[in-house]
Amino acid sequence: MKTFIDFKNMSDGDIQMIQAQLRAQAGQTTSAERLQPTMEEFRVFMLERLTAIQEKLAKSHTPETIGQYACDYDPATNPERFLSESWSVQAPYWALVETPQTYTITMLNLLRFLEFPEDKHLSLVSLGSGPGLYETFLARLLGKTGIGGMTTCIDFASAMTEMHRFILSLEQPPLRNIETATSDMSSIPLPDHRTDVIICNNSLQWCRQWKKAVAEMARILDPDRTAMVYLIIHLHECPMGLFDRAGKCPIEMPRISAERIMDEFEKNKFTIYGSTQMRGGHGSGQMGGEVNRAMLRAKYTPQGLECRWRKAKRTFGEAHCMKWT
Ligand SMILES: C[S@@+](CC[C@H](N)C(=O)[O-])C[C@H]1O[C@@H](n2cnc3c(N)ncnc32)[C@H](O)[C@@H]1O
Repeated sequence: MKTFIDFKNMSDGDIQMIQAQLRAQAGQTTSAERLQPTMEEFRVFMLERLTAIQEKLAKSHTPETIGQYACDYDPATNPERFLSESWSVQAPYWALVETPQTYTITMLNLLRFLEFPEDKHLSLVSLGSGPGLYETFLARLLGKTGIGGMTTCIDFASAMTEMHRFILSLEQPPLRNIETATSDMSSIPLPDHRTDVIICNNSLQWCRQWKKAVAEMARILDPDRTAMVYLIIHLHECPMGLFDRAGKCPIEMPRISAERIMDEFEKNKFTIYGSTQMRGGHGSGQMGGEVNRAMLRAKYTPQGLECRWRKAKRTFGEAHCMKWT
């Protein structure tokens, strides 16, 4: 199903309209229905929080300093460390790089699809969680429903974890159902088959060992529970990389398309349940660009794939959008 919304001049009415549209599309049976925030909650706990944080960050970060990914560590010595330290350099302003429109479309799409066991033991894990704004809001909504358990946010950049802790410290009343950890998603410090749901938002394509990370997702998910991954990826074709002080890009990230990612998930016994394109008009994305991402949904099915995505009736159209569940 294609979700194209021009966020260029988004008003309160637009947000309400989008929410109603997504809710109607989600049907009545998903767990996501239980999480739907009121307009007030969305405003206070997502948009106002975000605005306050962005205003605070904007005071100490001018547009010239944003986007400088300088890190003094020599990438030749240890490329992974170069990457995690570079992300740490970005941590103080990362929440400024994404626009409120991107936060809105992403959050609303997550809220549209999320499935989880509705009991006291929910284990939700976010990989490459950065400042954790989505996860913080989700934890608040989960707390409100009385669903128990823990949201664990994992990022390999220690300053990202610190930034998330700072954001959590602003929450009143404090949230008890969310925790943070600094770790690499290609070696997740969690036990086998105890996780219900994984969110991986705009971070797998930044992971050089992304195939290992997919295998790790299979290892930690509990196939007797929901065992879903909600993966948000970029659809643009340009190479991605982090720059050093000289403005050079010593490490280019592997170009991993949606197709390669879905093949790798199938190799690791995931059934691809579907994908939805998330689009926002010019000005709604990073640095004045467009939002062009997709949310892939994959279920860990070690007993056998329910279908193969390449054989599924509706496949990627021109606009990379599909849905076959
Ligand atoms: C583009 S940011 C997205 C952050 C956050 N998910 C969001 O949407 O605001 C990518 C994040 O992935 C993290 N990351 C990149 N590679 C990682 C890895 N191998 N393990 C864990 N985190 C990683 C980075 O530190 C960064 O915080």
